[in-house]
Amino acid sequence: MKIISQIDEFRQYRRVLNRNKIGFVPTMGYLHDGHLSLIDKSLEENQATIVSIFVNPTQFGPGEDLDRYPRDFPQDRQILEARSVDCILFPDSDQMYGANYATFIEVKKLGTVLCGKTRQTHFKGVTTVVLKLLNLVQPTTAYFGQKDAQQAIIIKRMVADLNLDLEIKVLPIIRDDDGLALSSRNRYLSDQERQAAVLLHTALSTAQNRIGEGREDSSALKKVIKKILKQNRLIKTDYIEIVSLDHLEPLDKVDPENTLVAAAIRVGGIRLIDNFILGEI
Ligand code: PAJ
Repeated sequence: MKIISQIDEFRQYRRVLNRNKIGFVPTMGYLHDGHLSLIDKSLEENQATIVSIFVNPTQFGPGEDLDRYPRDFPQDRQILEARSVDCILFPDSDQMYGANYATFIEVKKLGTVLCGKTRQTHFKGVTTVVLKLLNLVQPTTAYFGQKDAQQAIIIKRMVADLNLDLEIKVLPIIRDDDGLALSSRNRYLSDQERQAAVLLHTALSTAQNRIGEGREDSSALKKVIKKILKQNRLIKTDYIEIVSLDHLEPLDKVDPENTLVAAAIRVGGIRLIDNFILGEI
C-alpha cells in the first residue's frame, strides 16, 4: 500500500496507474465501519482503490471543531493496509491550500438549506475539496455515504453540472447495534449523551413507520419526531426537515419516490445528523 502526502508524488503515481476501474473514497479519517462499507464496496468493484484522509479546514466554520476533530493516522493506516487498499492520499493543508489559494466551488441553493443554514460555508468547503481530490485521483467511481445525504446530493449536482467523467455511488447508513448512525464524532459523547443520542434514530424510525402506515402529512410527521427528541433534555434540536431529494425543497406531503427526512441535533457540544429517504439519491 502506498501512502502519499505530496501532490507531485501522487500525480506521478496516478499517471502510471494503468487500471480500467479506479475507485475512490474521500474521508477525513478516524475510520469506522461506515467508512469501511464504502471502502469494501470500492475494493469489490474496482481494480484499484484510493482512499484520501484529509481533515479539510475549509469546511469547518469559525468556532467549529476543526482542532478537536479526531485523528489517528497510525490506526487508519493499519485498517487500510489490512484491507489491501492500493493507496492512501494523505496531504496536509499546505499541500491542498497553498499560500495564494483563491479558488472555491459553490453549488447554489442546495448548500444553503438544512445543514447549510447553520453551517453557511460548509458545503462550499466540501465541494471545493472534493473537486480538487477528484481532479487528482481521477477515479471511475467515487463512493459517498447516505449518512451525509445533503453532501451526496450536492456532490452529484456538482459532478453533473461540471461534466465530470465519473460515477458517484451513495451507500446506506451504517449504524451501531442500537441504531445510532456511526460517526467519528460519537467518541466524544459521554455515557449519558450516548444514551440521549440514540433518540435521533428512534425519532426518525418512528416517523418512517408512520409513513409505512400511510401517514403523509409533513407537519404531523415532524411533530412525531420533535416529541421524541424532547424526551431528553440533553438534546437541542437544530432542524427537522422533510424535503424533496432532488431539490431539497420543503414538501407538505411526503412523496414516496422523492423524499428526504433529515434531522440535526446537538447533544452536549456534539452535533449529530441522521436521515432516511424515500427514493434514491
Ligand atoms: P467523513 O465524515 O470522514 O466521511 C467520509 C464518507 O463516509 C462520507 O461519504 C460519509 O457520508 C461516509 N460515512 C460517514 N459515516 C457513515 C455511516 N455511518 N454510514 C455510511 N457512510 C458513512 O464526509 C466527509 O468525511 C467529508 O465531508 C469529505 C467528503 C471527505 C470532504 O472533506
